[in-house]
Amino acid sequence: MTAGGSTPGGPNLAGGADCPRDPDRVLAELAGWQRQVRAQFPILVAADQVYLDSAATSQKPQAVLDAVVGYLTGSNANAGRGAYRWASQTTAMVRRCRGRVADLLDDPDPQRSGVHFVSGTTEALRRVALDWLVDTLADGDEIVVPVADHMANVTPWREACGALAKRGVTVRLIDMPYQPSGDYDVAALAGLLDERTRLVALTHVHHVYGVDLNVHRIRRIVGDDVVICLDAAQSVGHLPVSVRDLDVDFVAFSGHKAMALPGIGVLWARNARGPRYVHRGWDGSPNTAGVVSLEAAIDWLDATGLERIAAWTVALGARLTDGLRRLPGIEILGCQTSLALDSTVQRRQGLVTFRHAAMSATDLGFVLAEHGLMVRADAHCQGAAGEHDASVRASLHAYTTVAEIDRFLAVPGRAQPGGGPDCAPQAPGGVTGRDRRWSVVTASRVGRWPVVSSGRSPAPGSTAGWWCRRPAARCRCIPRSTGRHLRVPRRCGS
Ligand code: ALA
Repeated sequence: MTAGGSTPGGPNLAGGADCPRDPDRVLAELAGWQRQVRAQFPILVAADQVYLDSAATSQKPQAVLDAVVGYLTGSNANAGRGAYRWASQTTAMVRRCRGRVADLLDDPDPQRSGVHFVSGTTEALRRVALDWLVDTLADGDEIVVPVADHMANVTPWREACGALAKRGVTVRLIDMPYQPSGDYDVAALAGLLDERTRLVALTHVHHVYGVDLNVHRIRRIVGDDVVICLDAAQSVGHLPVSVRDLDVDFVAFSGHKAMALPGIGVLWARNARGPRYVHRGWDGSPNTAGVVSLEAAIDWLDATGLERIAAWTVALGARLTDGLRRLPGIEILGCQTSLALDSTVQRRQGLVTFRHAAMSATDLGFVLAEHGLMVRADAHCQGAAGEHDASVRASLHAYTTVAEIDRFLAVPGRAQPGGGPDCAPQAPGGVTGRDRRWSVVTASRVGRWPVVSSGRSPAPGSTAGWWCRRPAARCRCIPRSTGRHLRVPRRCGS
């Protein structure tokens, strides 16, 4: 299955663009499989909290932990150096993992392409920009940059333009056009391309809106000559990703979001358009334990089944989205017409971002944390600063259970802003700040839901803060988000 499609002849667990499946039915069909998946994550088996931050980093299955410990206690050595057995085994393992990555990405021509191990998605994209792109561009060329996606896919392209400007080469940086839904506006994109367009940078699954950005349509729009570079940080490990079907030239992803350890990532280069990609400079020793974890993670993903993982997280994401949209005061970001369970438009992956109409995302994040619900609550490193504000993101993976989603849904609609009798300002309180706003989360366990009260901190340098009037209440001072509000897209893209 490719994103948004299904394998010919295979089970169509995720439905499809024109064939949504009833999420509850999918969840029921996969319940037994999911119980077995969940049991393989020791951190979750032991936890009494709910992990809903898988878009930031995934948890690791026992098989990955075992592989890393086994390597470090059994044959740890450097790669590409040394003639002894451990070194040779490590070198072979790194080579083997390159092949496993090519398989994972459905690489049609591994003889020509290259798999380069880097620290993560940001480094991979920066390598394309600074090690490859700058040598392929000439004065007057143009590149298209997805300015409202993750900063990792915005900053490196700006840096490349800056580096070229120092050489007297002017490259036009074109902002990717978006629909109000947050989806790419492919019709407008077609109108922006001309014979000077050299590269289009894309994101596979948006890290805030949670949708597949329809990247399979982009090759047809840009034509055969333009290089496409794909940020697949939120798709690899979550759903099948086929460079063959997507017809892209570079893919970047992070191991730690795909069940492997932090510090290992991949840059895949097709080497079919423009000069062959080569790392600049001296690489030094590779992150061999990271590569071990990546190989084990790919084995685990294969054995578990990426189609099933995608089916589970899409169906569970739909349950979460549907539950959230029924709560008072909750606005879900991204395409609004995709929120209904039977929507045939832009099926979401397992990632939902929302705001509370009367409470800052930071405050709500603390309220959720008080209930043992681990989410990301900030501006999510989204590009195009100024068009967004902080929001709360809940993101899932194959290990997330239906019970956890239902536990989560019980909280956001009942969290109330507006102070309360338990907290009041007084000095000294341990909080200092300059022109900052602060909130207090009161998480009383005496039969009450948390309330959040807010106030402006006193004069710069003051130690005034908040205090608890009632000893039974637990008050905590937190910085309040100050950004502008994100426009919530109302319409959906085609
Ligand atoms: N890029 C990661 C995220 O979106 C860290 O949370």
